[in-house]
Amino acid sequence: MTAELTTDLTVELPERFLLTAEHYTDAALWPVERTHIFQRTWLYLGDSDQLTVGQVWVRQVVGKPVVITCTAPGEFHAFHNVCLHRASLLCNANGISSQKHLICPYHAWVYDLAGNLVGVPSQQKFSESFKAKDYTLQPIRLETWCGFLFICFTDDAPPLHTFLGSIPTHLGQHRRDETRLLFTQRKTVACNWKNFHDNTLCDYHVAIAHRHTLHKVQGPIKYYEHQLETYTNLLRTPVLNSWQADNSTLSDLPELGRTSFLTYGIFPNLHLLGLPNGILAWLYIEPLTPDTCELRSEVYGIPQLSPPLETLQADFDAFTNEDIALTESVQKGYASGTYRPGPVNQLEARIIHQQQLILKFLQLDPHP
Ligand code: FES
Ligand SMILES: [Fe+2]
Repeated sequence: MTAELTTDLTVELPERFLLTAEHYTDAALWPVERTHIFQRTWLYLGDSDQLTVGQVWVRQVVGKPVVITCTAPGEFHAFHNVCLHRASLLCNANGISSQKHLICPYHAWVYDLAGNLVGVPSQQKFSESFKAKDYTLQPIRLETWCGFLFICFTDDAPPLHTFLGSIPTHLGQHRRDETRLLFTQRKTVACNWKNFHDNTLCDYHVAIAHRHTLHKVQGPIKYYEHQLETYTNLLRTPVLNSWQADNSTLSDLPELGRTSFLTYGIFPNLHLLGLPNGILAWLYIEPLTPDTCELRSEVYGIPQLSPPLETLQADFDAFTNEDIALTESVQKGYASGTYRPGPVNQLEARIIHQQQLILKFLQLDPHP
């Protein structure tokens, strides 16, 4: 894979946006999105470093109960958190804990952390054909990139490495042994998840709405370069001299990563920002209801090379708050019943890329 970027937009931009106001407001669409989009693609879970051998991570992923286990260094498994006897959840409390086994609270079937059924009370009272080995927990695909965990509910999606497009090539060396989670943020936003995702893919508003924040890092729009891939899209902006004066750079990064701010949109609800000082920032937009979502930010970096934590946090806070105000305003516009899809600027090509994928996964026509 080449590290070169295509500097021209190859996507044929439609005259108008592909999603209508109803796509952002219709309550009936969320269950359809859950099955047609979120259960058919890779979903980001978090950093594998937080899970050590013998630990279990219980959580909901797009409404499904999931348990992730670690059985040896670097060996992770994901299972549906559902007992194979009579469907009780195996673990009820979300979060990470150390456990030797998963013991069902209903009739105490015991599973090991690799998902094998290793204990059954009153086993002799089941029929003679009962065999514990027939009741292994249902696995879910789990793969990692740079120590970051992803799961996928279908076998049809490509391997994670393929799904991520040029990300492993361009950002695969940003994470080092010294990299740490610097901070996390969670913010509830009163807008549909697609509205917030569109905004994060929008390269038209940065110079205007973030002129005192993000724009100072991303620089003049005449230097913006885009690359559109199957499931990801990239905005590349060259490192500014003013940034270089104040920051350290990892000198052994591949040229593109060393000289650029790389901002990836990843279908369906994820973003990854990579900076030449080794900062990697995940922005994950969790749908909550048709008109609310949660923005979860995780910022990783090398403490000695990163700006002071308070500065970094304040910068993130500033531009995410600007985005929250904008997207909540747009949501009100969508809900007004008066909006028809407006015209598309070339700086909004990444939004169109995402909207095309959404329509393809939902098997919907634009402007029904
Ligand atoms: S439902 Fe789990 S042991 Fe019966
Ligand atoms: Fe923004």
